Amino acid sequence: MIVTTNDLFRHAYGNYAIGAYNINNLEQTVGLFRGNLGKSGSNEEPVDASKAAPFIIQISRGARGYTDKRFLEGMIRNAEEVFPEAIFAVHLDHGTEEACYDCIDSGFYSSVMIDASHEKLAKNIEITRRVVDRAHAKGIVVEAELGQLGGVEEDVVGSVCLTDPAEAVEFVEKSGCDSLAVAIGTSHGAYKFSGSQGLHFDVLEKIQKALPEEFPLVMHGSSSVPKEWVHRINEAGGKLKDASGVNEEQYLPAAKLGVCKINIDTDGRLVWCAIHREFFRDKPEEFDLRGPGKLFMPAYADYIVHKNQMLGSSGQLDGVRASLGAGVTG
Ligand code: G3H
Ligand code: 13P
Ligand code: ZN
Repeated sequence: MIVTTNDLFRHAYGNYAIGAYNINNLEQTVGLFRGNLGKSGSNEEPVDASKAAPFIIQISRGARGYTDKRFLEGMIRNAEEVFPEAIFAVHLDHGTEEACYDCIDSGFYSSVMIDASHEKLAKNIEITRRVVDRAHAKGIVVEAELGQLGGVEEDVVGSVCLTDPAEAVEFVEKSGCDSLAVAIGTSHGAYKFSGSQGLHFDVLEKIQKALPEEFPLVMHGSSSVPKEWVHRINEAGGKLKDASGVNEEQYLPAAKLGVCKINIDTDGRLVWCAIHREFFRDKPEEFDLRGPGKLFMPAYADYIVHKNQMLGSSGQLDGVRASLGAGVTG
């Protein structure tokens, strides 16, 4: 069941974070749905309520243009039918104004992100306000971003600039956005930190205190870049030197400070890359694409189960269902 992103935030606020996972293809989609229902090896397994979690599917502009955006929409609709117990939102990740309008008008998306964080404050507010007005008229909620992450965001190469709590107050008030992506030390991609760097919890706490009560915050660039997967990739011929990510033990403390949505894309790519590299290394005579796909889907599902445990969203699906007034899964 597709729900509005704010319904998920209301249930999560202050206790746990919802995993927001990017998808690009069928195998990722199937693995994602299985994982969020606590299934591992097949679609037919029963739902494991102790692991089942609400989630957000994220679609980037790159994903929309990879084949045709309609394929993604079709896959999600079909997944909703194959996995009727799933409760999730569909979200445009890092949208331009034009992409936001396209998604708002499509009637398919639960929420859009307008990313004008590279603009000056006044311009960011102006652009975000326009998107908010158009989205709210159709009952769609808007994530906006203030501050700049490091790394690469679509075609914007960012240099880190942490979110200023006082600016955040002005931004939220004037733009009317429903959730705010904050820069607190993370960056996109596989190379986030060197040495003992980590999240700036002091800044996060100030932002939470300054904003209206229970205002949902979002953390981008939150992949943990697990050493195990990087090692497997490199053992199978990859060259990912000094890759490092966010410490997973920091997800829950961030959630307690108002972070309701934690964005993860890179980790899924690492799992995909390791499985495919190993498969073709070990079976050089193979060329059937379903071989690695059959290994990837359960591996990704298991990875999602683990991630949701770290986010605290595991086992929350029944609670979310009850909070929506739709009964409890059997
Ligand atoms: O923040 C960016 C996301 O990881 C999406 O990446 O634009 O390569 O699909 P992408
Ligand atoms: P990662 O690169 O850390 O997975 O971040 C993904 C993201 O922020 C998508 O918007
Ligand atoms: Zn992002």
